[in-house]
Amino acid sequence: MSIEEQVEEALEHVLVPGVRRSLLQMNMVREIKIEDNKVNISLSSTAISAQSQDWLKTKVNETIKDIPEINEVNLNFIESKVSEVNQIKNIIAVMSGKGGVGKSLMAGLLAVSFALEGNAVGILDADITGPSIPKMFGISEHPGGDNGGILPVLSKTGIEIMSMNLLLPNENDAVIWRGPLMAKAVTQFWEEVLWGKLDYLIIDVPPGTGDIPLTLMQTIPLSGVIDVYTPQDLTEMIVMKAIKMANKMNIRVLGLIENMSYLMVPETGHKMEVFGKSKGKEMAAKAETSLLGKLPIDPELAKLCDQGKIEQYRSDFLSSVLGNLLAVLDNKK
Ligand SMILES: Nc1ncnc2c1ncn2[C@@H]1O[C@H](COP(=O)(O)OP(=O)(O)OP(=O)(O)O)[C@@H](O)[C@H]1O
Ligand SMILES: [Mg+2]
Repeated sequence: MSIEEQVEEALEHVLVPGVRRSLLQMNMVREIKIEDNKVNISLSSTAISAQSQDWLKTKVNETIKDIPEINEVNLNFIESKVSEVNQIKNIIAVMSGKGGVGKSLMAGLLAVSFALEGNAVGILDADITGPSIPKMFGISEHPGGDNGGILPVLSKTGIEIMSMNLLLPNENDAVIWRGPLMAKAVTQFWEEVLWGKLDYLIIDVPPGTGDIPLTLMQTIPLSGVIDVYTPQDLTEMIVMKAIKMANKMNIRVLGLIENMSYLMVPETGHKMEVFGKSKGKEMAAKAETSLLGKLPIDPELAKLCDQGKIEQYRSDFLSSVLGNLLAVLDNKK
């Protein structure tokens, strides 16, 4: 291993205070220069408080001193913009023309499935007045940060989460804001949160086609949107609202997910279509996109969400939706 590789490996073990992800995972390492037996490391100071910077200095020194070829470590912090540090490969927004169809649940499940496959994942909860992601993941810590950056909160399995609820003094406090202010908050979650290196950032979009979805589509470089719906009389209208909005904004529609598609009756093993017949194929054809999957009503899942344990959910649905979604993302990227 070259000295540079050894230094990088050492930095992989130094965790950024507050997020429990390494300096490399957070993309904080700006430069590593090795001359003779001296190493100069520049770290981004974005979102790192003075106290954390001191801690990092000591920690990096200790860790690198173990490399026999190195006898001097110089560490300096440089200011950089959050946008220079963030490196996000795919950004997927989960939306719907209607409320209560399971967008947040789906955003959570997608994040969980991507993380299970070993990806670095984050969730941006863009539902400012009705944030539900922190509750599903059972988190309530306040985000850290300093120097022009906010650090996301890490879930139990290591998913980065940013939500309005985590910033409120009390999680039951209400945010009573008008549209433009909410749109500004969402923009800040994008421009001021230090996500670091992520394979997937999932955005939980509030219902409808108002200010926030519009701002998201205008300011965040989305890989595409997923449209969630439940089979009912007004489905077509609801699905098409979100599709038309994405089309108008030139945002790719990655596919549809039919939620609460059916219920497996435990006693009989019978598949009951509670809200009406599945409209998956018909809707996908109409929207000119793919049906990524159908999620049944699952009382166990509802219970896990209520208990803040969504990360414990496992089902065939997760792997099949993920497979279909990856195929769509790979296709014509
Ligand atoms: N397939 C399912 N099985 C069981 N419960 C579900 C299912 N889908 C959603 N739920 C439950 O229904 C409720 C609403 O889901 P969720 O909050 O994800 O909807 P939403 O579309 O994000 O709502 P909103 O428009 O208010 O943001 C939650 O309590 C969730 O746990
Ligand atoms: Mg929601």
